[in-house]
Amino acid sequence: MTGIKKGIVLAGGAGTRLYPLTLIASKQLQPVYDKPMIYYPLATLMTAGIRDILIISTPLDTPRFRELLGDGSRFGIRLSYAVQPEPKGIAQAFLVGEDFIAGDPVCLILGDNIFYGKMGLDRIVQDFSSGARVFGYPVADPERYGVVEFDKDGQVLSIEEKPPKPKSHYAVPGLYLFDGKVSELVRLQKPSTRGELEITDLNMAYLRRGELAVEKLGRGIAWLDTGTHTSLLEASHFIGTLEARQGLKIACLEEVAFMKGFLTRTEMEKVIAQTPMSSYREYLERVVRDEC
Ligand code: DAU
Repeated sequence: MTGIKKGIVLAGGAGTRLYPLTLIASKQLQPVYDKPMIYYPLATLMTAGIRDILIISTPLDTPRFRELLGDGSRFGIRLSYAVQPEPKGIAQAFLVGEDFIAGDPVCLILGDNIFYGKMGLDRIVQDFSSGARVFGYPVADPERYGVVEFDKDGQVLSIEEKPPKPKSHYAVPGLYLFDGKVSELVRLQKPSTRGELEITDLNMAYLRRGELAVEKLGRGIAWLDTGTHTSLLEASHFIGTLEARQGLKIACLEEVAFMKGFLTRTEMEKVIAQTPMSSYREYLERVVRDEC
């Protein structure tokens, strides 16, 4: 069987870096220009054709995500929710989500990762058969991320988490494709010195099995950071600038659903009727009139 039909958005964490903003709402609920941050990773999964999505967050924030997004029917998708009691590592998502995964391949995206541009993720997701696939994205400050080391032929030698002396400038973004044995492999993992089940250790486990593929992302793709107040503001500027210039929205989930055929025209009209009068509603009306 090929292809991935299930996705997980990991949207928990301690949320201390954006204090005091995160007292009001978790990081992934903060606005990025005109939408809550989680809309962007959700749009990435939906654009890739994934409609069955688990959202994992903290005990405090999970009800807030449920209130915001509901069962997903507004977006033609199926959303379920699970709680990560404590932020014990990104790879823990595969234990919290084990029942949801049920031995199927899955795509994990971090709730604070914003991608823009043609990544061909729909094809990558459709063609996925086994092992693990991650991405490599050139950044100016690789020491802040998981970093891929390549040999001279472009083969992956290692991935290191936040290395003081990075062996390349290719960071691993928070978007990962794993096959159905992922939960089993996480179960064999030991927590790192900071007490977390590290996503980088999981990727290394796949690499040691000869089952890790790293796809380099090209220049035409933006992967935005939202980890600091400045980068959050820059992400808003980036989205706002593009939306104003083109008159098109980025990560408008109802639009993505309509374009992908997850919502029929009649369903879309019902969704619009339930939307308060706003520029967002006017945009949805334009979408349904095929004016976008
Ligand atoms: O953004 C990509 C990077 O994400 C990768 O390059 C790194 O390899 C990976 O470790 C991760 O690094 P970060 O420093 O960004 O990890 P952070 O602890 O900030 O967690 C990333 C997001 O995942 C954050 O929004 C909170 C959420 N999270 C994190 C942990 C550890 C959870 O929901 N639960 C957790 O237990």
